[in-house]
Amino acid sequence: MKIAALLGSLRKGSYNALLLKTAEGLLPEGVTLTLASIDGLPLYDGDLDLPTAHERPASVNTLRNTLADADAILIVSPEYNYSIPGGLKNAIDWASRGADSPLMHKPVALMGASPGLMGTVRMQLAFLPVFQFLNMQVVSKPEVLITQANTKFDEHGELTDAKAKELIAQKLLGLKALVDAKNQ
Ligand code: FNR
Repeated sequence: MKIAALLGSLRKGSYNALLLKTAEGLLPEGVTLTLASIDGLPLYDGDLDLPTAHERPASVNTLRNTLADADAILIVSPEYNYSIPGGLKNAIDWASRGADSPLMHKPVALMGASPGLMGTVRMQLAFLPVFQFLNMQVVSKPEVLITQANTKFDEHGELTDAKAKELIAQKLLGLKALVDAKNQ
């Protein structure tokens, strides 16, 4: 089973990148993870998209192909201004169009880390209508919200919160269960 990961932060020292690395280390057996990079995508423009344009920009095709190749999507993201970071939303917009959208109907799990006390809860809520529009199958529980992320990773980038690690592992098992059920 293949998971494609969308990471909402481009920052080198990103807590969410560390969270994604943690998730990668907790994948269920037989599951692989590939990053579907959102870096360098143009802003969504319907004139560059099918069917108006002859073909989509190359970076968009790469993103869509990586997502299409996956059985499930893992989104790991910060919260910006109480919502979904613009760069990540832009990537989702690019991947959402057409009958062959690589997001439509796909199992998805969402998690996030923030130095604040709310741990990306508002970003996670903002995703619910997006998942609904795309008819995605969401792993709602357990919720994975890393609060005070600046205190939760050690000098090697290891997540020090054992309970959070347990929840991440459970979330990934939930994602695998959705894929297994879909394939039956
Ligand atoms: C933030 N940050 C932030 N944090 C939060 O908990 N709620 C919020 O609404 C926002 N808004 C926000 C907007 C913008 C534009 C930035 C750049 C930052 C702070 C944010 O959680 C913090 O910078 C994280 O470290 C970003 O995640 P990464 O890059 O560490 O993964």
